[in-house]
Amino acid sequence: MDVEGKDLLASLVPVEELDESRAARLAAQLAELVAQADIAYHGQDAPFIDDAEYDRAKRYLAGIEDRFPQLSLPDSPTGKVGAAPDGRFGKIAHRQRMLSLANAFSEDEIADFVQRIRNFLNLPADAPLTLTAEPKIDGLSLSLRYESGRLVQAATRGDGSVGENVTANARTIADIPETLNGHGYPDVLEVRGEVYMTHADFARLNQSPTGRSFANPRNAAAGSLRQLDAAITASRPLRFFAYAWGEISAPFAPTQMQAVEALQGYGFQTNPLMTICNSVSDIMAFWQSVERQRAGLDYDIDGVVYKVNDLGLQERLGFRSTTPRWAIAHKFPAQTAWTRLEAIDIQVGRTGALSPVARLHPVTVGGVVVSNATLHNEDYIAGVSADGCEIRGGKDIRIGDWVEVYRAGDVIPKIADVDLSRRPADAAPYPFPQTCPECGSPAERETGDSIRRCTGGLICPAQAVEKLRHFVSRAAFDIEGLGAKVAEELFRDGWIAEPADIFTLQDRYGPGKLTQLRNREGWGEKSALNLFQSIDRRREIALARFLFALGIRHLGEVAAQELAHHFGSWQALRDALDLARPAALALRHAEGAIRAEREAADAEGRRARLSETRAAALAECDLPPQAEAAWSDLIAADGIGPVLAMSLSDALANPQERAAIDRLASHLTILPPEARATDSALSGMTIVFTGTLERMTRAEAKARAEALGAKVAGSVSAKTDLLVAGPGAGSKARKAAELGVKVMDEDEWLTLAAR
Ligand code: IVH
Repeated sequence: MDVEGKDLLASLVPVEELDESRAARLAAQLAELVAQADIAYHGQDAPFIDDAEYDRAKRYLAGIEDRFPQLSLPDSPTGKVGAAPDGRFGKIAHRQRMLSLANAFSEDEIADFVQRIRNFLNLPADAPLTLTAEPKIDGLSLSLRYESGRLVQAATRGDGSVGENVTANARTIADIPETLNGHGYPDVLEVRGEVYMTHADFARLNQSPTGRSFANPRNAAAGSLRQLDAAITASRPLRFFAYAWGEISAPFAPTQMQAVEALQGYGFQTNPLMTICNSVSDIMAFWQSVERQRAGLDYDIDGVVYKVNDLGLQERLGFRSTTPRWAIAHKFPAQTAWTRLEAIDIQVGRTGALSPVARLHPVTVGGVVVSNATLHNEDYIAGVSADGCEIRGGKDIRIGDWVEVYRAGDVIPKIADVDLSRRPADAAPYPFPQTCPECGSPAERETGDSIRRCTGGLICPAQAVEKLRHFVSRAAFDIEGLGAKVAEELFRDGWIAEPADIFTLQDRYGPGKLTQLRNREGWGEKSALNLFQSIDRRREIALARFLFALGIRHLGEVAAQELAHHFGSWQALRDALDLARPAALALRHAEGAIRAEREAADAEGRRARLSETRAAALAECDLPPQAEAAWSDLIAADGIGPVLAMSLSDALANPQERAAIDRLASHLTILPPEARATDSALSGMTIVFTGTLERMTRAEAKARAEALGAKVAGSVSAKTDLLVAGPGAGSKARKAAELGVKVMDEDEWLTLAAR
């Protein structure tokens, strides 16, 4: 996970302490983080965040959405599992969604899980409740459709609704029967389970000269299954455990245990450790015994899964948006090992963040050799701040220290602890660099930010190359044949220095000069021509992609889409940012006041009134009215908070960055966003809800408005078309009256929405 993601998670305060604008900002950032983690995990088989962190981000986001339903994003990741397929395979819509499991990390959480089930079913404490327990296999899930006993289709999970068609590949896996054994199976039976690779097979594959090297068995299994050429899959030693089912034409067992036994009878491998538990203490005993056996198993597991055994009860319990109420995954804690910290390196990221990385004496943690670990930021290493106070989470880490390293799954390892008793006498506190190690520019920290950043902008080669890598990434320009590696090579060789240069490559190295590209190592005439063609195809680009690709700090995919919808064109957004610049500057100057308010609020145990502090700062500056209007319009866009707005404003106010963006835009046709929905009285309107709604929840009201093509904003501005005010409406209703915005009550709104 990048430093910003770590930092974000480290900075979370209890949801109850958030004010709405902070919550909005966090929600957008967390949504972004979760979305990227989903893509990395499911789409690219290369996770960068561990399960506990992922879970924490998602739970916190759900907490924000509970408390501020108006902040629920239409495509919030709390409502989805996995990542959409990437187009290399045919798509298959799952007839029954492939869900994920809620996670638990402690006995208390398991006890809560059991109690919730009892409450839901109204089962008294002494009524029996049986659960199955089985290892959670660390592979990738697959759904196999059998019709009249014959395998007709195999699909990956994808985003849970639509997966990839990997039928030909699945047929090559020995554990997957082509026809079912015995009889009594339903005519339609979708068998679900996990594809995995054993440790022994993984080691052989990684050693074989022709085999690719994968980081771990899970990535190897995923990479092997998702091969376009089924012959390659066939050459990889994949296995399959069946543990669940999707669509069935008729029930085939009354309990989970009997169903799994039936699957075994039909010819599937099922996990031999699966058992029955009748209480939380049974569960804990089983979990501990599996944890003890873990190291001796020949496949990776990352926890234990419990499921209500009685399928009738499962049916009654049903599902939340992405997880069943009747099952839970009980994860194992991360594995750890002690080693020496040999050096600290500083990496410079796209937004200039200086990220310290620990270089470790190589050590095996949970079967994987680890030689690097993230050190997050300056404060984390120092353990104390400049004013001598201890920093929460700070460890005072020094070169030469013995450190405890941990990883869970595929994560970037982290440092769990430092053994001060083994600290060498000459180990000195680490002097965090005050200048960028890549370009020598001063590295500065903004007030309240734990990250030191290089101020070199585009003159810093590290930032420039990271910006280019981001620019060509899948959610950005996604140019076929020009991935991060090629972009980096072309940058190092001086062929491209900034995104705009990609679009002049052909003029500079194309026909006539084609030989130059063709002569590069790894390039032939065809690949050179293909590259120019795929670059040409991207000369037309959707506004949201264009914005996201700029790599501006805090501007994620979701926010880019919101901006695109709000402004409709790059020119409109650019003009608005120019107009709003004085307001952004006024707020930059008010950062001291904002910090003071935050600290005062913390000290007094109340919520910080940052929007008031900001409003006061703006009022004090006597801004031109257009600047104020442009600013309120900017932050009226859904999910666009002042922090992102300032970051956008700064980017455009920086002469080098502005010129680079303009150069890029001059090569492009930037397409306006497609309308979100049409044909409704509400389509295109911007609506704000305030006060208490009595007939539906805020979340429902927002979902309804958006389904009808309206935008829901958090605050009233000149762009607001309608304010729906329930009892208790306060400042928003006054502002609407001032601005002449139409106001209606909940009943009128419902009539309008019903039309
Ligand atoms: S049951 C409705 N059982 O874990 C839930 N899942 O985090 C059906 N997994 O997508 C899943 N071992 O890929 C189940 N014994 C097991 C499992 C298991 C691994 C995976 C599966 C699922 C993910 C959820």
